[in-house]
Amino acid sequence: MRDAFGVYVHWPFCLAKCPYCDFNSHVRHEKPDEARYARAIATELASLKPRTHSKEVTSIFFGGGTPSLMQPSTVQSVLDEIARHWTISKDAEITLEANPTSVEAERFRGYRAAGVNRVSLGVQALDDGSLKNLGRMHSAAEALAAVEVARQNFPRISFDLIYARSGQSPQAWREELAKALTFVPEHLSLYQLTIEPGTTFEMLHRAGKLITPDEDTSRALWDITQELCEAHGMPAYEISNHSTTGAESRHNLVYWRYQEYAGVGPGAHGRIGADGGRVATSTEKNPERWLASVEAKGHGLIEDEKLTKLEQADEMLVMGLRLAEGIDVARFERLTGVSLNPERVSFLESKGLVERSKDARLRVTASGFPLLNAIVADLAA
Ligand SMILES: C[S@@+](CC[C@H](N)C(=O)[O-])C[C@H]1O[C@@H](n2cnc3c(N)ncnc32)[C@H](O)[C@@H]1O
Ligand code: SF4
Repeated sequence: MRDAFGVYVHWPFCLAKCPYCDFNSHVRHEKPDEARYARAIATELASLKPRTHSKEVTSIFFGGGTPSLMQPSTVQSVLDEIARHWTISKDAEITLEANPTSVEAERFRGYRAAGVNRVSLGVQALDDGSLKNLGRMHSAAEALAAVEVARQNFPRISFDLIYARSGQSPQAWREELAKALTFVPEHLSLYQLTIEPGTTFEMLHRAGKLITPDEDTSRALWDITQELCEAHGMPAYEISNHSTTGAESRHNLVYWRYQEYAGVGPGAHGRIGADGGRVATSTEKNPERWLASVEAKGHGLIEDEKLTKLEQADEMLVMGLRLAEGIDVARFERLTGVSLNPERVSFLESKGLVERSKDARLRVTASGFPLLNAIVADLAA
């Protein structure tokens, strides 16, 4: 497998906080000083460069928050800075996460000119009632119009939907997903609604004012997701991500395959260094504190820890078993110095939850995927 190296850039601002979201996103009355943030991102890139093992960047991801609030010139200046420190490979995947409003769509041409070649749009739902419940600031028609503008501007697009929403029936999801598949023929991220701690949805859920589908309905929604996407030639290559062959998100594969990535911006995570000497980094989440730290110290790191082999083993399992391709057992053992417990593997195999492929990979089966967390917990050190 080719050595991959990704750079993640976090843009932490949103126009409003969605009630289900626990990402590092902040609402500010004043527009942030983008030039100042871009300079701080440049400073962090310079401080991470000597600590990375890879010389060539194969993917860049602007995530958020809402990176589509950035001016294209800010995106351009961040890309220029990355190119000052590493070689950006000719076929590098450069993704920007966008909210699908008409205002953001107006900036798509500028992002493309800056070098972005893939957008991932947070469509979330295809009916206005659900979008309102999710606190979104766009209608379904506006989102689909943004998808169309994205298609005209970028060679590759994807969009996100959230399912297992309050009151969503299997039939309604079948129709919604079938419609979505007609709009994006190559890549879709389909997330089951998770009630995240500290969110407004959690408060409503606890108060009994937001009811999520029961276990049987959730399972039916999951099965419909797999059935429709497979019939459309877009099987799950990761537990929540579906694509045609070759259209997988190369940047996200860097995380799941446990390869090297540098993370910059408020609340960004990284895993830098070669196998064996891998370091976990993360930065201050609050944008203003992050900025002050970078300007004073040259970085915003609040975590900078060399991982033990066992920690790497657990991380590699957690990430790798999300993938349909599973993990390379020989690499796992080389990297971690431990073997997978043969009895636990055999037990899970006997239940049909995991399987070994001919090329010595261990992967979760289709019937194992709905139980992924339990399987990982069973195999972890
Ligand atoms: C960083 S977020 C959003 C990017 C962009 N700001 C937007 O809202 O379109 C990435 C994706 O995570 C998903 N997501 C966020 N919170 C979730 C939750 N609680 N349950 C399921 N999916 C969630 C949404 O589909 C979202 O598009
Ligand atoms: S879902 Fe997107 S727009 Fe909504 S708060 Fe989270 S990051 Fe911001």
